[in-house]
Amino acid sequence: MDLFEKQWASYRAVVEHDLMEHRALAAATAESLDAWLARRPASSAAPRLVDLGCGDLALLAPLLRRLPLRSYTGLDLTPAVLPLAEAALGPVPYPTDWQQGELLAWATSERTTEPVQILHSAFAVHHLSDEQKAAFLGAARRRIASDGLLLWGDVFREPGESLDDYRQRYRQRIRRDWGELTRQQQDQVIDHLCTFDMPAERGRIEAEAAAAGWQWIWLWQGQHRAEALAMLLPV
Ligand SMILES: C[S@@+](CC[C@H](N)C(=O)[O-])C[C@H]1O[C@@H](n2cnc3c(N)ncnc32)[C@H](O)[C@@H]1O
Repeated sequence: MDLFEKQWASYRAVVEHDLMEHRALAAATAESLDAWLARRPASSAAPRLVDLGCGDLALLAPLLRRLPLRSYTGLDLTPAVLPLAEAALGPVPYPTDWQQGELLAWATSERTTEPVQILHSAFAVHHLSDEQKAAFLGAARRRIASDGLLLWGDVFREPGESLDDYRQRYRQRIRRDWGELTRQQQDQVIDHLCTFDMPAERGRIEAEAAAAGWQWIWLWQGQHRAEALAMLLPV
């Protein structure tokens, strides 16, 4: 994925100009985690958090620094982002673990590990095919603690929207609204979009999540019928 391996600066520009509403997504993520932590019994052990496709943690680091975690694992396919993420997070009072890896492989891994209380993923799962996303939901359901949650921030297709129609309207949005990027940076994002992005169609993914044993709750919707945050609870 060239955008993340060779053109990270273009993705950084998208984040810095808030073109994919990362700030609102990070605020909604913080609000939902604070509310979830406040609902936990005082006697609960501190939660483990696994962040799939953590990137450079540019937006999540302030939240992670103040969460009362037992441990944090940042996993990403692109090895170059892991030292950036570690530097962005800085010193924290819990153990951290940085893993280069693929998120579906992590979820389906047979390694026996403790259940995870907080699974988080932002703008990464949409790189999986529909079949892989369904497999991810099933595998993640087996990794989550009974009192845990999956926070999934991402781009999603509208109900009934085809992948071609989604890519076409997102491409138009980039050309129309992303003037802060150079034409070359826009081209790089559009190439990535048309090659790697396969956002879930909302109706289908909600049904697949239910079949995998999740309750699906939409927590936040961006302004463009694409970016959104869902909370999935094991049932
Ligand atoms: C759009 S960036 C998002 C980074 C960060 N979560 C954020 O919200 O800014 C996507 C990240 O997911 C990683 N990624 C994409 N597909 C992945 C996969 N199948 N497994 C693990 N990481 C993946 C990329 O390397 C990249 O760092």
